[in-house]
Amino acid sequence: MIKNDLFLKALKGETVERPPVWMMRQAGRYLPDFMKLKEKYDFFTRCRTPELATEITVMPIEQVGTDAAILFSDILVVPQAMQIDVQMKPGLGPWIPNPIRSQKELDQVIVPDVNEELGYVYDAIKMTKQALNDEIPLIGFAGSPWTILCYVVQGQGSKNFDKAKELCFTQPQIAHSLLQKITDTTIAYLKGKVKAGVDAIQLFDSWGGMLSPTDYQKFSWQYMQQIIDALKNDIPVIAFGKGCWFALREMSQSGASALGVDWTCSAQNARYLSGGNITLQGNFDPSRLFSPPKDIKKMVHQMIDEFGKDKYIVNLGHGILPNIPVENAKAFVDAVKEY
Ligand code: CP3
Repeated sequence: MIKNDLFLKALKGETVERPPVWMMRQAGRYLPDFMKLKEKYDFFTRCRTPELATEITVMPIEQVGTDAAILFSDILVVPQAMQIDVQMKPGLGPWIPNPIRSQKELDQVIVPDVNEELGYVYDAIKMTKQALNDEIPLIGFAGSPWTILCYVVQGQGSKNFDKAKELCFTQPQIAHSLLQKITDTTIAYLKGKVKAGVDAIQLFDSWGGMLSPTDYQKFSWQYMQQIIDALKNDIPVIAFGKGCWFALREMSQSGASALGVDWTCSAQNARYLSGGNITLQGNFDPSRLFSPPKDIKKMVHQMIDEFGKDKYIVNLGHGILPNIPVENAKAFVDAVKEY
C-alpha cells in the first residue's frame, strides 16, 4: 500500500480531500543538484545508471514535495533500443545522425527484446521503488509512436517536423510500418515497466498537435489506442497530447484513466470536450512559473476551482522550463497543498 495515494485515487476518479500534484519533467532540469550531476555524467549515462536515475527521480520529491515521482529517463531510449542511433547533443538536444526516410533504412529498424536492450530501465525502476519506500507512487512513461517518429525521421527537434510529415504524406506505407514497429516495442517496454513496479503510465504525445484532426487519428491516435488497449487492464494510463484538445472526445472513450491538457484549452472546454466524467490533468502554463510565488498560488487556486477538486490532477500544461527558480516550483506545489 502506498501511503500518499491521492494520485492513484484521482486516477480512479475517487473523492479526495485535495487534488494531487506533480509536474511534467520535474526530474532534473531546473534543480541545482541536478545541474551538478549533469556536469559529471552525460545524458544517456544518467539514464543508464540506476543509481543516478534513482537519485534524480527522488530529487523533486525531497526538494519540491510532489505527490508522485516520474522516473528519470527519456522517450528516446525506445528508438535507441530499436537500433536507431540517438544522441543527445548539449545545446541542440536529440540528434539522429541517420534518420529513417526510406524502406532500406526502415528494414534495419528492429523490434528488440526489451529485457535485453532496456533492462537498465527496469533496474532503475526497482531501485527507485525501494528508495521511495511506498511513500508516493512512481510514474513510468513512453513517447507516443508519432512523437518518436517525429524525432527519428526529422533527425532532430523542429518547429514543424516538416520532414516527418513529408514521409507520412509521400510514403505512408513506410510511416505506418515504422509506427507499428514503435508501437509493438513500446507495448513490450511498458509491460516490462509494469512488471518492474511502476504504479501508473503516462504516454507523451508531445507533437500530436502538429497534425490536423484527421491526420491525428491516422498517424497518432490509432497507435496510442493500441498501447492503451494493451495496458489498461494492468495499470492506469494517462494520455497527454500537447495541442490535442480536438481529440479529447475520442481520448475520453479509450480506456485511459486520465487525459492531460495543455494551457491553450480552458478547464471548462476540456471538461466539455472530454464528456465531463474522466479525470483530467494539467494545465498551468509552464512560463507562468516565472510569476511571483504569491501570484502563482492565486492562479493555482483558481485553476483548481475551475477544474474542480475531484477527477483532477494538478500539473503543468507541458514540461517545466529549465530556468524556473526552485522556490517558484515549490510555490506551485504548496498552493495545492494549501487548497
Ligand atoms: O521529469 C523528467 O524530466 C523525467 C525524465 C524525462 C526526460 N525526458 C529527461 C530529459 C521525461 C519524462 C522526458 C520526456 C521527453 N523527452 C519528451 C516528452 C515530454 C515533453 O517535454 O514533451 C520529449 C519530447 C523528449 C525528447 C527530449 N529529450 C528532448 C527534446 C530533449 C532536449 C531538450 C530538453 O531539455 O527537453 C531531451 C533531453 C532530456 N531529457 C533532458 C532531460 C532532463 C535534458 C538534457 C540533459 O539533461 O542533459
